[in-house]
Amino acid sequence: MILDKQKLPTNTTTQYHAIHRWFNFIAGFSPEFVWNCCEKANLDDDSKILDPFAGCGTTLVEACKHGLRCFGYEPNPFFCRITQGKLPFKNCLESLETIEYILLNGFQNSQEISILPDAPFKFLTQLFDQQTLSSLLGAKQVLLKSDFKNSELAFLILSKVLDLCSHSQTDGIYKAPTSKKQSKTPECALKYILAILRKDLLLFKENNFKSLARLFEHSSENMSEIEKDTISLIVTSPPYLNNFDYAEMTRMYLYFWGIANSWSEITNQVRSKLVVNTTTALKGHKDKQDIYREKIPSILYSELDYIVYKLQEERKIRAGKKEYNLLVYPYFFQMTQILKECYRVMKRNAYINIMIADSALYGIHISTPQYLEVILQKIGFREIKCQFIRKRGHRWLLEKRDGSQIGLGEYHLEALK
Ligand SMILES: C[S@@+](CC[C@H](N)C(=O)[O-])C[C@H]1O[C@@H](n2cnc3c(N)ncnc32)[C@H](O)[C@@H]1O
Repeated sequence: MILDKQKLPTNTTTQYHAIHRWFNFIAGFSPEFVWNCCEKANLDDDSKILDPFAGCGTTLVEACKHGLRCFGYEPNPFFCRITQGKLPFKNCLESLETIEYILLNGFQNSQEISILPDAPFKFLTQLFDQQTLSSLLGAKQVLLKSDFKNSELAFLILSKVLDLCSHSQTDGIYKAPTSKKQSKTPECALKYILAILRKDLLLFKENNFKSLARLFEHSSENMSEIEKDTISLIVTSPPYLNNFDYAEMTRMYLYFWGIANSWSEITNQVRSKLVVNTTTALKGHKDKQDIYREKIPSILYSELDYIVYKLQEERKIRAGKKEYNLLVYPYFFQMTQILKECYRVMKRNAYINIMIADSALYGIHISTPQYLEVILQKIGFREIKCQFIRKRGHRWLLEKRDGSQIGLGEYHLEALK
């Protein structure tokens, strides 16, 4: 699997990879990146791999495909269930027929869309035409009354159908109900996704693919389920500062499945469990700034304090009045906690691989890769390397914002315990 370096941090190749392609998202990295890290790490049959920011499960799926045991953490219940759905269980192939029957039956059992609470009604009717939404809700209802109500595979399949039936772009930072795309009928979408699943599962049935993964639905700030000195390799990519709101990103699914029924429920039930990387996630963190600062390695104080000060000043003159200044300490505090936990669970001489980007808030540059390097060093990691991987699109050029010549990029951080 040789891939152009620039594509390593992207999900642009997942469509060519069995299982990965069942459900993926814009923030995923490539399966090739995971496999490159595995090859370099000299793993054996007893090796265990960890992704503390599992997302849609690229690391876990890749590990399982190669017969390696693995662990993941993902507090967003939607992503967590999607990843579980990609880790096939016994009789998975056989169960497709029943799931298909249930969902087709459900599409016929149209539900009144007026049963939706206000916020989901308003949002979902912007993404689907009414008849499609009625059919999809019918399928959900029939599924939840069936023996497959707890099936993560059925959850994944209906979520993918949802994605394909929406006439708006739903992948990315904003669920932009204004941007139109081609949509499928529920029946066509189901046929399409099932054909892919059957093909992939047949392939892995022959290879005796079984799930060797354990995924935990909470923040990796605490990884007490994993014993110390047991992990042979970490491959991960945390949320980048001021990039995606990983709760908002899943709004369509959270509303559809009834995991949350309003913006405040999304905050309380999902966003509050994630790393604080966007201003939408600041609830409950604003008055703890000093506590967070105290727990970041003090060697970073002069740089971070200066950034916070500049952001405070900038806020006064900017129309949006975004509280970017309040993101810095919680973000680096949480990253410090998680990297400490990574260190605890890793074996000596194990590698950690992190795909990360720098950011510009109000045009003020925050060199996250460089700060994470310092944090890694303070925790005790050795042989830390930071490799530039690719520029991040034109819209991120600081030049456009503040006359600065610096463009933003993605970096591969690598270190040894
Ligand atoms: C860049 S994405 C990871 C994508 C993943 N590499 C993939 O290929 O699917 C970051 C993920 O971290 C998750 N996340 C955010 N805060 C977290 C936390 N405190 N603990 C664990 N995961 C978290 C987000 O929900 C998001 O899915």
